[in-house]
Amino acid sequence: MKYAITAATGNFGQTAVKELLNLTNNDDDIIAIVRNTDKAKDLLPDEIEIRQGNYADEASMEAALQGVDRLLFISSQPGAEVARVVQHQNVVKALTAAKVNFVAYTSFPNAQASTSALASDHKLTEDAIKQSNVAHSFIRNNWYIENEMGLIQNGVANHTVSYWASNNAGWALEREFAAAAAKVLTLSNPKEVYEFAGPARSYAELGTAIKQATGNDFAVHQVSAQEYQSELESTGLDKDTAALFSSFQAPINDGSLNEDTTDLPDVLGHDLTSLPVAIKEIINRK
Ligand SMILES: NC(=O)c1ccc[n+]([C@@H]2O[C@H](COP(=O)([O-])OP(=O)(O)OC[C@H]3O[C@@H](n4cnc5c(N)ncnc54)[C@H](OP(=O)(O)O)[C@@H]3O)[C@@H](O)[C@H]2O)c1
Repeated sequence: MKYAITAATGNFGQTAVKELLNLTNNDDDIIAIVRNTDKAKDLLPDEIEIRQGNYADEASMEAALQGVDRLLFISSQPGAEVARVVQHQNVVKALTAAKVNFVAYTSFPNAQASTSALASDHKLTEDAIKQSNVAHSFIRNNWYIENEMGLIQNGVANHTVSYWASNNAGWALEREFAAAAAKVLTLSNPKEVYEFAGPARSYAELGTAIKQATGNDFAVHQVSAQEYQSELESTGLDKDTAALFSSFQAPINDGSLNEDTTDLPDVLGHDLTSLPVAIKEIINRK
């Protein structure tokens, strides 16, 4: 079997490559499709094949996907010169032309029904994959705990931890989402949709977990979105960056990330890392 993983130089992709190496045997080939092959050679294990492919260049993706049976298609980053949805449509056209048998695409919680601004690229990509008639799984990832680095760093420094969003998110470690995505690629009968998430938790609960992980006893309090942005600006961030960071809590506040699912531990075959232990792991990373 020939497996391929796109965006393999990213945090998610690097973990997925290593997990896939553990899940497969010597008869299988693993191909990393990356836009920068030198970077990939530095970051990825020697035994995998590295091919160049940029989502913005459909022909490069079609060439990179030749002979691939099963593909983990990791979503791109927004804000590039070529719109993310166009990049994704290029990948879908390329994998269809290259006759890839199966694609697992990293999507957004409840992508088809979600009203979150972040969901729209993912909904359109899911639609394009469905229209391609290629067998597929949509791996709808909830929120990486790593997104909350700012709050975690405040807790480590024993400073007040503020947040503005009400409602819950299904936080889990990025490596847990990535390991499960790699596993889906190897399943003989994968589901069409996986809603991957940790248990739904509020920011107040996350704050308590940061206290447990650090042993510090700082205040955790909810402020308005405007006060939160002002607090970020007072740390030296410019207005636009502060607004961007503050906006990351919007999909939590509007309920887009509040879901009840056990797909993630079910696919992994074990319980998820608890929030305090996961936060300790993040703090101890180099
Ligand atoms: N659910 C969540 O909480 C959450 C949070 C953050 C991100 N995400 C999504 O998850 C994805 C993976 O996360 P991550 O942590 O691995 O992100 P990351 O570490 O920032 O890596 C992004 C990857 O995308 C690649 N890439 C960007 N533009 C590309 C293009 N035009 N063609 C080919 N590859 C391209 C990058 O390649 P280079 O190494 O060449 O730059 C890199 O490998 C993100 O791209 C984003 O869509 C989800």
